[in-house]
Amino acid sequence: MVRICMITLFLLATQLHWSFTHGSSDAVREAYIVYLGEAPQSKASATELHHNLLSSVVRDDHIAQQSRIYSYTKSFSAFAANLLPQEVQRLKENENVVSVFPSKMRKLHTTRSWDFLGMPQSVKRNHQIESNIIVGVVDTGVYIDAPSFNDKGLGPPPSKWKGTCQVKGNFSGCNNKVIGARFYNYGFKIPNPSPLDEDGHGSHTSSTIAGSSIAGASLYGLAKGTARGGVPSARIAVYKVCWEFGCSDIDILAALDDAINDGVDLLSLSLGGDSSSYFENPIAVGAFHAMKKGILTTCSAGNDGPSYYTVENTAPWILTVGATGMDRQFRTLVEVGNGIKTSGFSINTFSPNKRMYPLTTAAKAVNGSIPRNQNPWLCDEGSLDANKVKGKIVLCKEDLTQDYIKDIGGLGAIISASQQSDVGSTFVIPVAFIDTNISNKIEKYVNLTRAPRAVIYKSTTVRNAATPFVASFSSRGPNPISSTILKPDIVAPGIDILAAYSKLASVTAEPEDNRFGVYNIISGTSMSCPHVAGAAAYVKSFHPNWSPSAIKSALMTTASELKIKDVETGLAYGAGQIDPVRAVDPGLIYDVSTSDYIRFLCNEGYTGTALQLFTNAPTNCSSVPDIGGLDALNYPSMYLELNDTSYSVSGIFHRTVTNVGSPKSIYKAIVKAPAVLKVTVVPNQLSFSHLNEKKSFTVVIKGPPLDNVTSLSASLEWNDTKHRVKSPIQLFWAV
Ligand SMILES: *[C@@H]1O[C@H](CO)[C@@H](O)[C@H](O)[C@H]1NC(C)=O
Ligand SMILES: *[C@@H]1O[C@H](CO)[C@@H](O)[C@H](O)[C@H]1NC(C)=O
Ligand SMILES: *[C@@H]1O[C@H](CO)[C@@H](O)[C@H](O)[C@H]1NC(C)=O
Ligand SMILES: *[C@@H]1O[C@H](CO)[C@@H](O)[C@H](O)[C@H]1NC(C)=O
Ligand SMILES: *[C@@H]1O[C@H](CO)[C@@H](O)[C@H](O)[C@H]1NC(C)=O
Ligand SMILES: *[C@@H]1O[C@H](CO)[C@@H](O)[C@H](O)[C@H]1NC(C)=O
Ligand SMILES: *[C@@H]1O[C@H](CO)[C@@H](O)[C@H](O)[C@H]1NC(C)=O
Ligand SMILES: *[C@@H]1O[C@H](CO)[C@@H](O)[C@H](O)[C@H]1NC(C)=O
Repeated sequence: MVRICMITLFLLATQLHWSFTHGSSDAVREAYIVYLGEAPQSKASATELHHNLLSSVVRDDHIAQQSRIYSYTKSFSAFAANLLPQEVQRLKENENVVSVFPSKMRKLHTTRSWDFLGMPQSVKRNHQIESNIIVGVVDTGVYIDAPSFNDKGLGPPPSKWKGTCQVKGNFSGCNNKVIGARFYNYGFKIPNPSPLDEDGHGSHTSSTIAGSSIAGASLYGLAKGTARGGVPSARIAVYKVCWEFGCSDIDILAALDDAINDGVDLLSLSLGGDSSSYFENPIAVGAFHAMKKGILTTCSAGNDGPSYYTVENTAPWILTVGATGMDRQFRTLVEVGNGIKTSGFSINTFSPNKRMYPLTTAAKAVNGSIPRNQNPWLCDEGSLDANKVKGKIVLCKEDLTQDYIKDIGGLGAIISASQQSDVGSTFVIPVAFIDTNISNKIEKYVNLTRAPRAVIYKSTTVRNAATPFVASFSSRGPNPISSTILKPDIVAPGIDILAAYSKLASVTAEPEDNRFGVYNIISGTSMSCPHVAGAAAYVKSFHPNWSPSAIKSALMTTASELKIKDVETGLAYGAGQIDPVRAVDPGLIYDVSTSDYIRFLCNEGYTGTALQLFTNAPTNCSSVPDIGGLDALNYPSMYLELNDTSYSVSGIFHRTVTNVGSPKSIYKAIVKAPAVLKVTVVPNQLSFSHLNEKKSFTVVIKGPPLDNVTSLSASLEWNDTKHRVKSPIQLFWAV
């Protein structure tokens, strides 16, 4: 019922497979990606290598030609082809091949939000440098006619830009705001493909990052204000990979190959799917090569919370973003004939044009011929009698199939919800979710009244002081791939966000809905990811030469605490809520070096070809010095996973910080930890005498065996009285 946005992996292979008969046995070719690592010197030699590799396993030259889908040669070396199982096996055995993996489908997972994050319109900016920043958005394309994409005041694209604008179909072209637009549709058969956004998602995410400031934006009067991106002067390059049925791995990889080569400064992907090992995932592979070229990739964490182990896009070179709620909520007033009034939940753009409407309940309007085991209160397809619903508002319980009540002539629905959702949703008719206790009173009123009546008013906004809090849908750790890295890294607003939309998609995306506009209010980690991408671009506009890990560290160590925290959410918010203005001056940064990544991958069990990605020569993990800690990366957060409640708690972290604050400064360690843990920092004071000086320290965690907790949260803050450089320390018992 609630539409939460993030484009996730369907467990079906790409539609591209085709059958071919060989003798008597039918074998099915399926789309695979063959990843070879660094791009060779020339495109010609890469293409030839791909051809030779393919021919060596697909013996028939004609079939080899036909089975090739993509050659990726610009930013890394890989190809996509339709392969048989035995061909996949032979390619895996080839020493030049890093990985071979099936192409899967991924799915898509305003502007109060920037003010809420402490970035008012008047915030200090480097307009000149900001307008040289290009953010690559891999999504559903762009609806360039939305006001957010106007290019008033922007000069021509930065000279480093090498991308293109594919003018096709109804996509009329780019401007100085959206400087590039490409589409990738080899994963799907799409009639008349173009970069035009027919979904709204890509326009929403792009405008959240870098949309121009537009006063008076709203969804039918709701959330009225100035809509703007985090960096309104920056440029947008869109890479459309998601279509009506999802986003194919082979297309995502093609988009990343182009984007890195086109000259984007940052990448934002609000999409994902099942996590798999880093070199069998196109987003992790693309982000890895982006990182090596100095480009930070920001990704959504997924909308599968609040369960553990649901976080996606967990590669350590990715900035993984969960979602929080803002201080603004939408409430929808419901009034009943006997005077009962209640403030419900939903985003209702419809104003009543009568004082009251007839009211019934699902139990009274039940379709007499439904099976005994079907519960009419759920108001799902076929459960009600159209004659008893027509012209009325219906009281339902728990859920509502988006357009059913409208289809059978109903005018609205009041839904009793035992658990209040933290997300407002839009419907094709007036709808409000209300508390169960009040719905019982309303049901009684309907039972006892000859002509019961009710009205659902248009939503209004209310302030919610208890924010930020983690959205219930936001995916949580532990990290299913690496048990030494805390993910998600950070959180940002992702509930009820107003931003640009496409006029080609209705407000609810339902065919019955005739509300179309250039703004919409939607929720998801898809919406929180572009807030962090915008914040990263903002930091980069002050520090154009910072590495991706420096920008990531700055955002993480300056993040603010959540208002609502509990044991359960420790694995949901990472370092906390982004604070873009503070991130510009973090004091110290945790930078990650190439040797860190090699040690990390060795610890994770990667060998041989995968490690050549860093060294251009075979690396023997036995010769990589072990620093003795649990974790190998100089990560801005610390995560300790325990596997036995009868063992004492014991962990050690090694970290190095670089001074980017005041040349001469003394930082003191401030530890916050539950009484049962002993957290020691050695040394507990760091004295710097110049900028870019590095200092190392260790964090030792000790505690008795604990069998009464599943997770514990602590923190380390380095404080020089001007800067607070804070890292979360999270413990989790994986038993
Ligand atoms: C372009 O838009 C027109 C009018 O909405 C529509 O009829 C046509 O099918 C569209 N063409 C393409 C290629 O999408
Ligand atoms: C009532 O239920 C029957 C059996 O499921 C179904 O065939 C019929 O279409 C339903 N009536 C309405 C009005 O939905
Ligand atoms: C609903 O009623 C139950 C039982 O009377 C009570 O415990 C609960 O607090 C009520 N909930 C609200 C939201 O008022
Ligand atoms: C309303 O009436 C139905 C049918 O008589 C009954 O089962 C139900 O408990 C009543 N609801 C309330 C809240 O009194
Ligand atoms: C890696 O180094 C270890 C110890 O130096 C040695 O025993 C091992 O044979 C080496 N492995 C390879 C594949 O070279
Ligand atoms: C539990 O953790 C210890 C210490 O990290 C490790 O040596 C051991 O192999 C782990 N056991 C299991 C079953 O994972
Ligand atoms: C868990 O047990 C430890 C050690 O026995 C104790 O200090 C701590 O207070 C307990 N925590 C909770 C949440 O009960
Ligand atoms: C840490 O630094 C902040 C300034 O960023 C200062 O206000 C605060 O008092 C410091 N805390 C401690 C305990 O020194």
